[in-house]
Amino acid sequence: MLTLSHLAVDHGKARALWDLSLHVGRGEKIGLLGANGAGKSTAMGAVIGLYQVAAGTVTFDGVLQVQPTTAQTVASGIALVPEGRRLFPGMTVLENLQMGAFAATDRADAEPLEQVLKLFPILRQKARQAAGELSGGQQQMVAIGRALMSSPRLLLLDEPFIGVAPMLVEEILAALRQIAVDGVTMLLVEQNTHRALGFVDRAYVVENGRTVLEGGSEELFADPAFAAKFLGLE
Ligand SMILES: Nc1ncnc2c1ncn2[C@@H]1O[C@H](COP(=O)(O)OP(=O)(O)OP(=O)(O)O)[C@@H](O)[C@H]1O
Ligand SMILES: [Mg+2]
Repeated sequence: MLTLSHLAVDHGKARALWDLSLHVGRGEKIGLLGANGAGKSTAMGAVIGLYQVAAGTVTFDGVLQVQPTTAQTVASGIALVPEGRRLFPGMTVLENLQMGAFAATDRADAEPLEQVLKLFPILRQKARQAAGELSGGQQQMVAIGRALMSSPRLLLLDEPFIGVAPMLVEEILAALRQIAVDGVTMLLVEQNTHRALGFVDRAYVVENGRTVLEGGSEELFADPAFAAKFLGLE
């Protein structure tokens, strides 16, 4: 479904991604792991057209992506839950959710909103409240819900558990599992290795802008190189 091939991306004069390759097959849950500054968010930004590709390619459904606009990204079926949530804190929960449907082609469709409110029932109670008044975990539910409003086929999640209380982490993970069962493919950026590998089917490890390891969750756990890099850190 999504393939990044030898991707390089620059931020101004500084190269952030040097050689990142990964593949996300239809229906898969894939992890993207790596330390602060490794280039995980940059990779997601390149997929959604936020950053220009300096070398290599991004293809989605076999179609080469050349810095798509937001409307093109949404129309092709990709939605991003950005790092730090990026809600509009002064707007209501409902208004924030509706922002996610703004660029979608089928604007009249009320179904995604019902699905989101079923997935996160607390958001129904909080619908008229300012998003900024919600807890971190509830705000993350709004951010995920907003992304789902365009009925994406591929959901990109950039560190969705930062600032989320443990109980809500479990609730959000359960919701993400349900979303996957409903047919949405996922690419998850996550710093908590145990949590990530407990959720995804396979993962890639990025270091200094390069993919350095990849494998199934159990395979990575058993890999001494992986253990040396990550498992001691938590
Ligand atoms: N907008 C930007 N302008 C300049 N440099 C940037 C910009 N965004 C990221 N960088 C740099 O690019 C590199 C990769 O950053 P990126 O945010 O992709 O890493 P990350 O893996 O998502 O890290 P984190 O886990 O902290 O979110 C870092 O060296 C970072 O400082
Ligand atoms: Mg990041």
